[in-house]
Amino acid sequence: MATTTPLPPGIPPTHPAVVITAPRAPLAILHRPTEPPGPGEALVHVEWTSSTPLDLHQADGGLLIDPPHVAGSSFGGTVVALGPADASTAAAYRKLSVGDQVFGMAWEQPRERGFQTFITAPTYLMSKLPENITMQEAVTVSTNLVTVLHTLTKDLELEMRWPLSSSDTNANEEDKGDKDKEKKQWILVWGAASSVGQYALQVLKYGGYRNVIAVASKRHHQELLALGAAVCFDYGQEGVTDLIRNHVAAAAASSSDDDATIPLVLDCIGDLEGTLRPLTRLAEKGTKVAIMLPVIIKHATEDEPPEYEIDVTKVLKGEWKDGVVLRGVRTHFYTHDEFMKYHCQPDIVPALLEQGVVKPNKQRIVEGATLLERATNALRILRNRAQSGEKLVWRVDEKSAQELFPDLFVSKADPTKVETII
Ligand SMILES: NC(=O)c1ccc[n+]([C@@H]2O[C@H](COP(=O)([O-])OP(=O)(O)OC[C@H]3O[C@@H](n4cnc5c(N)ncnc54)[C@H](OP(=O)(O)O)[C@@H]3O)[C@@H](O)[C@H]2O)c1
Repeated sequence: MATTTPLPPGIPPTHPAVVITAPRAPLAILHRPTEPPGPGEALVHVEWTSSTPLDLHQADGGLLIDPPHVAGSSFGGTVVALGPADASTAAAYRKLSVGDQVFGMAWEQPRERGFQTFITAPTYLMSKLPENITMQEAVTVSTNLVTVLHTLTKDLELEMRWPLSSSDTNANEEDKGDKDKEKKQWILVWGAASSVGQYALQVLKYGGYRNVIAVASKRHHQELLALGAAVCFDYGQEGVTDLIRNHVAAAAASSSDDDATIPLVLDCIGDLEGTLRPLTRLAEKGTKVAIMLPVIIKHATEDEPPEYEIDVTKVLKGEWKDGVVLRGVRTHFYTHDEFMKYHCQPDIVPALLEQGVVKPNKQRIVEGATLLERATNALRILRNRAQSGEKLVWRVDEKSAQELFPDLFVSKADPTKVETII
């Protein structure tokens, strides 16, 4: 029995990929083989991608990579071939057909990563594009919506049922009381205007969490209130941590609840001085603090390399109060949870978009005459920390699969012909 599906006619045997050749060296193009999809996999022609700070951490800091490293973790494009069916990926696989528009986050293997014109990846790393959003919008979503779903459930240990069941509304009075208390607890989202932060606010709102404190530049506050924040603070304001403390204390004093602590903190940035140090002033015994890794000790600049730390317990030792629980977020481990592995990208991400629970980040389109130029320009914007409340998106292949391989799409209207192709 064939273990892969041959490349369909017209699909090139090799394709260009953006690679990191060494820390802080210019990005380069490598021509890689286009790999036929194996069991449960799809071959996708990549049309859009988005850049994330991880690209910078890898390109300038060499973070957890072994160059040459094929770059990118987000992709959006068209399925041009499906591998043979595979029992373990059956549900995700069955949702897809040749010609479908898909998007997602994939990072593990060079063949899966988004800064190349074809990827071959497991279908459980793919979401089918809902009709109400464009591909340009969709590529802003997966990396950080998956991050938020993983962090809230794994690192902050919040219960997020999927799908929301009627038991939520039929709970007995005692359960309802406990749930209500849980939903009223303070959750601090520091860096709420970041891509991670915006998805966190929306998912928390969907989960019914009402007391979410957002910390971001003032210019984003109106929008963050609309996304689900109960109150916003400006991290540029002097004494911001005192203001937050006072707000929580005043709320406790005016209610029957005398607890003026913030039990859950989501640090969406992981910046030693910019976020962790102020958080040491707010976290109390028992507070769980989920920190986006890596901790940035020193930012990359045009002249100097960055410094990072992966172990959150090694920074600001002795400055956290006793009993604060620090969690370093590693989204790439989300597939260790079987349910998340098979449902997060195929089911949950597209449903949240389709139902309008989550809206994509604003997009800033990065221009450039070539694939390499667009990747390089995006990296420069990240290095200058010039993105604010937006996601950098850019074209991988400027032509769509429909334009490049029209013969493949004739089959969409004729299912018998699909059989001959895949
Ligand atoms: N380990 C993991 O699993 C994981 C997963 C996802 C992301 N991350 C990391 O998380 C970080 C954020 O990722 P992202 O894609 O969300 O970034 P992003 O959207 O590019 O972040 C830009 C935003 O950061 C905000 N910001 C910068 N410094 C801040 C500070 N001191 N306080 C509050 N806000 C601040 C800015 O807010 P203003 O516009 O308000 O100034 C800006 O809008 C990156 O380092 C990324 O690598 C880690």
